Amino acid sequence: MCGIVGYIGTQDVTSILMSGLKRLEYRGYDSAGVAVIEKNELSVIKTVGKLTNLGNKLKERTPHGHIGIGHTRWATHGRPSDVNSHPHQGISKEFAVVHNGIIENYLELKEWLVKEKGHKFHSETDTEVIAHLVEEFYEGDLIEAVRKTLAKVCGSYAIGVIALKEPDKLVAARKDSPLIVGLGKDENFIASDIPAILNYTRDVYLIEDGEVVEVTRNRVKILDADNNLVKRDIFRVEWDAEAAEKGGYEHFMLKEICEQPEAFKKTLSGRIIDGKVKLNELNFTKEQVEKWKKVFVVACGTAYHSGLIGKPLIEDFLKIPVEVDIASEFRYREPLLNEDTLAVFISQSGETADTLAALREARAKGATTLAITNVVGSTISREADYTIYLWAGPEIAVASTKAYTTMLIAQYLLSIYLAQVKGTMPEEKEAKILKALQELPCKAEEILEQKEKYLRLAENMKEAEHVFFIGRGYDYNIAQEGSLKLKEISYIHAEAYAAGELKHGTLALVTEETPVIAIALQEKTYEKTLSNVKEVTARDAYVIGLANEGDQEILKTVNEAIYIPKIENIVSPILAVIPLQLLSYYAACVRGCNVDQPRNLAKSVTVE
Ligand code: M6R
Repeated sequence: MCGIVGYIGTQDVTSILMSGLKRLEYRGYDSAGVAVIEKNELSVIKTVGKLTNLGNKLKERTPHGHIGIGHTRWATHGRPSDVNSHPHQGISKEFAVVHNGIIENYLELKEWLVKEKGHKFHSETDTEVIAHLVEEFYEGDLIEAVRKTLAKVCGSYAIGVIALKEPDKLVAARKDSPLIVGLGKDENFIASDIPAILNYTRDVYLIEDGEVVEVTRNRVKILDADNNLVKRDIFRVEWDAEAAEKGGYEHFMLKEICEQPEAFKKTLSGRIIDGKVKLNELNFTKEQVEKWKKVFVVACGTAYHSGLIGKPLIEDFLKIPVEVDIASEFRYREPLLNEDTLAVFISQSGETADTLAALREARAKGATTLAITNVVGSTISREADYTIYLWAGPEIAVASTKAYTTMLIAQYLLSIYLAQVKGTMPEEKEAKILKALQELPCKAEEILEQKEKYLRLAENMKEAEHVFFIGRGYDYNIAQEGSLKLKEISYIHAEAYAAGELKHGTLALVTEETPVIAIALQEKTYEKTLSNVKEVTARDAYVIGLANEGDQEILKTVNEAIYIPKIENIVSPILAVIPLQLLSYYAACVRGCNVDQPRNLAKSVTVE
């Protein structure tokens, strides 16, 4: 995710910006830059890659001044490149802008600026429109130009703006993206995150949505959406820098689990309009979709588990067969791909070597390839014919959480979109699912509000040698993801079984020492699953049922139950995994494991 830092004061600005950006590195980024007002010039220095690249560029020419803004960019609109890095400028080079968030109507604004106002654009980013708009509206008052700009844009933002003609002020604003002002003596700061400024001050103003701030060396003016002056209390930061980087969470994994409601909103943003799925990145025709006789979904690990849930969705909505493959197996079984195939490749990082190799194989055989990934500009996104981005923000913990749930959302959207184009989606069903998808952020919040209860469950299973996860249909697929999560971070041996399959062998391993997590959410298979649960309770296993809120019936069969909020049954997998993520997280904590970097594992697996 992008990071912002800005400074105005008496010290040399470049080193302060660089130290602030360094503090934001943990958020993940792919390019960085600074803009500094020197004597008669606004200097912008930016580059793709890590801060060391920017540091090297700055060694060639260091801008000196007392006001500036800096940014680490995590690519969304436009791949990582020098030109797409922030800060961005308009045509006159008198303004510089850094931005976190997404400007949803940037194409429309860009067209207006180019056609009606004669602006020329340099980058592929949505952010650049802000710089051009500020320039367009500037009449000697920067804050006014920013206000007029923000009145035009839709989307989310935290921005920092400087203008050559007003070297005594920084202007910043926020909507749905964090922004703070750091308060110093004869100096002030802006930042997207507290760690950026903790080396200099612990006193901050937390800026609210809709507010615009004007920051000088010794004054901070906060204006609300109606231009009224706001009086804000100073917030004293008591955490240390490392805790602050994790937003106060002990581990990135917990932070990322808790970010899911926000991530869901971003994945869905602008993609359900007037009761229809809009995926602007795809422009399939009915003929194209009708031509596909088969779909392959290919991925590794958690991404593969998400594909297992995508399969029945596509089969049900499009009425064509789907095969889901582990990427490392795909090439070696001579899959029957041709021009009549759609091949979907799912990868959080977009760099997983096996998934990439499978994608190349599919392309070589003439299939239409579609990537679902979280990382803009990643190799898989560049090589696929089409890409759907997750917009989940960077995932730093090795254990994938928010990427998994947003991969699921992306597949619900994709399968509905394709069925819409093909004309095979019953309207009533579509409406129900889309409504439920929009309810997800709130329902996920409800689960997260009670996250501590999973600590007790984790305590109870901390000594277990083996844990079984069972379920049927989607519940089985969620069991597979739950078991991977538990074993990869807590090192407890865990297996997932289709509940009906246990009695064909594995039941022999179930004893009173084996906790079993039974997922019983799917209405279609509920009774059958409970029969299978009885098979394990008869062997004295301790069973925790994962059920829909209000299900008292399950308590007759299991030892205890955990619940997810009521939601349309077909989308319940997206919520169902959250308790299992929390359980794994706390199990790893109570067993003293390295939660974010489990042994032997890497975040991005770039070897086959
Ligand atoms: O970046 P990708 O989604 O392609 O990564 C695939 C797997 O390596 C990944 O999901 C892995 O299984 C995670 N550690 C699971 O938490």
